[in-house]
Amino acid sequence: MDMYERLMEQAKRIEPELIELRRDLHRHPELSFKESRTAAIAAERLKRLGMSVRTGVGGHGVIADLHGGSGGPTIAIRADMDALPILEETGLDFASETPGVMHACGHDVHTSVLLGAAKLIAERQADLHGTVRFIFQSAEEILAGAKAMIGQGVMDGVEEIYGLHNLPSIPAGTVGLKTGVLMGSIDRLEITIDGKGGHGGYPEACIDPIVAASAVVMALQTAVSRETPPTEGVVVSIGTIHAGTANNIIPDCVELTGTVRNLSAQWRERMPAILARIVEDTCRAYRCSGKVRYIEQVPPVLNDDTLTGFTAEVLDGLLGRHNRSEPVPMTYGEDFAEYLRFAKGCFFWLGSGPQADADRAAGLHSPRFNPDESCIAVGAAALAGIALKRLAIE
Ligand code: NI
Repeated sequence: MDMYERLMEQAKRIEPELIELRRDLHRHPELSFKESRTAAIAAERLKRLGMSVRTGVGGHGVIADLHGGSGGPTIAIRADMDALPILEETGLDFASETPGVMHACGHDVHTSVLLGAAKLIAERQADLHGTVRFIFQSAEEILAGAKAMIGQGVMDGVEEIYGLHNLPSIPAGTVGLKTGVLMGSIDRLEITIDGKGGHGGYPEACIDPIVAASAVVMALQTAVSRETPPTEGVVVSIGTIHAGTANNIIPDCVELTGTVRNLSAQWRERMPAILARIVEDTCRAYRCSGKVRYIEQVPPVLNDDTLTGFTAEVLDGLLGRHNRSEPVPMTYGEDFAEYLRFAKGCFFWLGSGPQADADRAAGLHSPRFNPDESCIAVGAAALAGIALKRLAIE
């Protein structure tokens, strides 16, 4: 039996315990920066494995180092812990007991996966040449947790970092892996349009910012459709429009917010100027003044070529080549990208959908999201396999 078969077998053996843990976390979801219970459970389990644990790192973040023989590198593996403000509709017997809060992105799965991996790796501590740093992160959903943890030194001394996210559109038991851009950047758009308010019956005495805002929303769509190549993967979506107090009053001002996603760093750099020009000049045509704040949130998740090749080798060893697909880049965004500013790494999709017709499963952030729990043991074996192979004593 080779290392991979043994790992999968051991992961299967701890599967019931990991599923029980995941269901407990699922029952008790916690919003971003409020993950105190989840963090305490992670810390307790890591301590039981004999690791010294740091808590309260960048919110409720938890880190623990597992040291093998000296001289090798330090590699990190990261999971996120927060839930979403969604009212659960799964009807599961372990559904959220906190109304309006739900693990609808599967971060309960990720936390269980990493605790499973920690157990599998700790059992083989003597085989490690180097250090594995386990990172349990707060507040991924608001894209703040990774930055906060990095500010507290979580990446100090780390040479490589790995992580995963479940994906219900590919079946459990499979993985999706690609080099280069796996997920796009996420930026925030805030637009203010100033006019001159007054009586709705006398528009000629006013400067109507609502008409200007309507034109701006339409014109912004041409930034993507007319100015960027269709191959470059740029998205501009306006998510909120706020103005006005009554049907017969023209307001002074309209405020809009939106999200911008880019699969290419080159086009990400150009978007602020393009969007500012469209907003400002469109507003000028309607005698209003428009201002854009382009707020960079996270860069693209950019996988390193060499480490992706290495990860592919491990995943193929565990699951077989036929269970690894190469996904197209996605415009979800992930604050794992922040860690990749400080060390090279690899992030991959862990299939969490049903075996048949996975692409019809309820998606991430859906109130009916219900991942196939058999992905947990697979994820634990995968992350453990990566660390053990990477730090193997030759
Ligand atoms: Ni997520």
